[in-house]
Amino acid sequence: MIKRTALLLVLMLISVFGIAQSAYVKDLKINQLSNPLGLDDVKPHFSWKIESSKQSVEQTQYQIKVWTENTNQKIILWDSGKVNSSNSVYIPYQGPPLESNQTYHWNVEIQLNQDAKTYPSDYAFWSMGLLSPSDWNAEWIGPSKEDDIERKSPYLRTDFKLKKKTIAQAYLHITAKGMYEAYLNGERIGDHYLSPGWTSYKERIPYQTFDVKELLKEQNGIGIVLGSGWYRGYLAWGDANDHYGSEIATKAQLMITYTDGTSEQITTNPSWTYTHGAIVDSEIYNGELFDAQKNQKEWSNFGFSVSNSRKAVQITPGTERLIASRNEPIRKQESFEVIEKVKTPSGDTVFDFGQNLVGWIEFKHQGKAGDTIRLYHAEILDKEGEFYTENLRAAKQMNTYILNGDPNFIYRPHFTFQGFRYLKIESSNEVNPSDFKAVALYSDMLQTGTLETSNSLINKLQQNIQWGQKGNFLDVPTDCPQRDERLGWTGDAQAFFNTAAFNFDVKNFFDKWLIDLSIDQREDGSVPFVVPNVLGKDAMGSAGWADAATIIPWNAYLYYGDKTSLSKQYPSMKRWVSYMQNLAKDGIYKGGFHFGDWLFYRPNDDNDGRSAVTNKELIAQCFYAYSTEILMKAASELGHQEESKAYQDQLSQIKAAFVSEFMTPNGRLISETQTAYVLALHFNLIPETLIPRAVDRLVENIKSYGNHLTTGFLGTPYLCHVLSENGRADVAIDLLLQKSYPSWLYPVTQGATTIWERWDGLKPDGTTQTPSMNSYNHYAYGAIGEWMYRQLLGIQIDEKHAGFKHFFLKPIFPKEFDEVKGSYESLYGKIGVHWKQNDDNLTLSVEIPANTSATLELPNEVGTWSKAIDNNRNLKFTSVTQNQQQLGSGKYVFRKEK
Ligand code: BGC
Repeated sequence: MIKRTALLLVLMLISVFGIAQSAYVKDLKINQLSNPLGLDDVKPHFSWKIESSKQSVEQTQYQIKVWTENTNQKIILWDSGKVNSSNSVYIPYQGPPLESNQTYHWNVEIQLNQDAKTYPSDYAFWSMGLLSPSDWNAEWIGPSKEDDIERKSPYLRTDFKLKKKTIAQAYLHITAKGMYEAYLNGERIGDHYLSPGWTSYKERIPYQTFDVKELLKEQNGIGIVLGSGWYRGYLAWGDANDHYGSEIATKAQLMITYTDGTSEQITTNPSWTYTHGAIVDSEIYNGELFDAQKNQKEWSNFGFSVSNSRKAVQITPGTERLIASRNEPIRKQESFEVIEKVKTPSGDTVFDFGQNLVGWIEFKHQGKAGDTIRLYHAEILDKEGEFYTENLRAAKQMNTYILNGDPNFIYRPHFTFQGFRYLKIESSNEVNPSDFKAVALYSDMLQTGTLETSNSLINKLQQNIQWGQKGNFLDVPTDCPQRDERLGWTGDAQAFFNTAAFNFDVKNFFDKWLIDLSIDQREDGSVPFVVPNVLGKDAMGSAGWADAATIIPWNAYLYYGDKTSLSKQYPSMKRWVSYMQNLAKDGIYKGGFHFGDWLFYRPNDDNDGRSAVTNKELIAQCFYAYSTEILMKAASELGHQEESKAYQDQLSQIKAAFVSEFMTPNGRLISETQTAYVLALHFNLIPETLIPRAVDRLVENIKSYGNHLTTGFLGTPYLCHVLSENGRADVAIDLLLQKSYPSWLYPVTQGATTIWERWDGLKPDGTTQTPSMNSYNHYAYGAIGEWMYRQLLGIQIDEKHAGFKHFFLKPIFPKEFDEVKGSYESLYGKIGVHWKQNDDNLTLSVEIPANTSATLELPNEVGTWSKAIDNNRNLKFTSVTQNQQQLGSGKYVFRKEK
């Protein structure tokens, strides 16, 4: 056994230090997007990664070249020259002004500290959108008001012929008030869904740019079908619709350039015609009615005409600006087969797809033209095994299809999505499970985090956290994806942000959402409960929700190191803090309504007061302090030193006020809850001498609940951090591994495949929680994910070098785990950690991306650690004498004999 382990170790080391390959440059990004089309940023930034098998690799120089390739001529537009710098992210374009609708090519050549060679990258490109409103010749068009009473989807179309010339480039710039899908010559354009996405539409509507050159012919037909979407569909509660307007419309401009330099445009205008078609009704919450008999396969082909087509109507523009999409589009992702066909006690036919997901069902179905099939979606089967939809509240989540008789026709919805694991089918025809698949839809973010351990329940928890994120990151970070809600709740988003940023690259996703946050911020600085705000001007200012305005931009800065984005949010951050300051008296924040520590632990028959109620004013004061501290740091980072100093003074006053108002002289808080201690400790509000007592009280509290957490949305994200940062990682591990309610693993033991809104969405007796507030796909409690990355893997941000240019590796090695393995794909490349332990020894392998460095901190007992040294491939372990190791890039192995 020992021999085998030794052999494995040698093999591992050989692969670690294996034959050195030369370095290369990869993952060229513009504004963190690969070859994006249609940008409207006139100073886009360049980033790349460096791959090398050597250690301590640093970039010493870069040279970027940007050129155009019009009429096959390469014209260099900008040459950065040789710049001696290790910067490889966010290098701003500094050439002549970029032009609308133009394609630009680029590459970079770098030098490294290792040799005198230059390493050129491959070529990459991007294109610009329409930079000035006057570049838009297209008009908003849609159906007439009379024709739109039933809100059927209009199918708008036109024909056009092109010159007999070679096309050099053809970009379609397109958007909608509502949602759109576009077709050219019978083919769907692009692979985006639910476009154009959701922003604060009154102020700005995103458009997308597609390269359609390959779809064009001499004679063409183009078609755009619209749905109500977020623009005018039902959102929030009651009969609330038409949040942004009552008229749906599209605006599209196809710009074709021939190789001889001439060009032409096809634009939406009232010469287009429309008819109604297969999409009869479509609502985000309620689902779609699709009559396949009305499906006109040929409708976007040249020459297609129907007798009842009408002229499109020009729709008057509103107050909106058109902006280029800046975040990843929603695309189809994983798909799932039926894992079980269930007959419920009431006799329903239900398919189980094994994963609670967000998207829709695609299927074929045999039946006569005119037959109806209805699909209902649910997240769980209840205790009795019945299809459970009560928790959907008013959302129907039902798609109805009228068949056209073609057994091979693939049915799917268009302008709606469902949150489900189970599908109930009503059809008079036989249903065949293999004809149905569940397709996940979400914003196409790069997965950046992996984490696997020797504990299968923890691995399932990690998967559930990632699925919670996938299901709720559909262009906007939503609370839940299934009931009549699906809104961008700010509190949920801030609680989950750090975990989200480990799991996926959410830079562009949140940059875009934060702009909407600042747009929807009230004049007095208050911040909405939901963004985009569809709840009105009074739904604002709750502590821990509104603080998304400071917490997310700051944390995004720490993960991605982009000062430009931070400085764009800085005014909004300031406005929120001054809102609180204006309401504060003697340093105590007197806010209005607060949700408090939402969904904290509340036992049913609470006779002796075990409910973990935390005073809301205490919570508000904690977040007032935290937001002010963030602002102080952001001001300093952005070079506003005087402002930073003023916030520092303000913070001292807030802290002093906290101590006198919410704490006894001995350090007891007015609310004896985990959340109260966690917030006060995490936000540095407890005077230093009283910290040990506060930590003891927190630990006693946890023990008094039998090693269970009692925190709600606001306390949960910080609970384990506070414990491990105050020397009680053992208690954090107890909480993490706790299997009974309330805990993170309790839902896992109940078969959860996502994170639940409540700790006991399904109670231990098998019954369900209150249906009015019981989502089975709500990411907020998944915030423990960050702790697992930071502690089990030990990957920690260095605030002084935001964006992982330098970072810390400080894994803890809890005895409860034999092995932990995982990684984070930073903007520089992969940070990897893998450790394994048994009774005799512990092996730790780490990987640090080129052009970064890390400080590794090994726990105590320094003398017993040794490090593998590649001495001309003569591998040796030499003992480590310091528990801090400064490491350049590359792979390293450490060992500890126990
Ligand atoms: C949402 C939450 C949200 C909360 C406000 C709920 O309806 O689903 O996640 O944060 O309201 O307390």
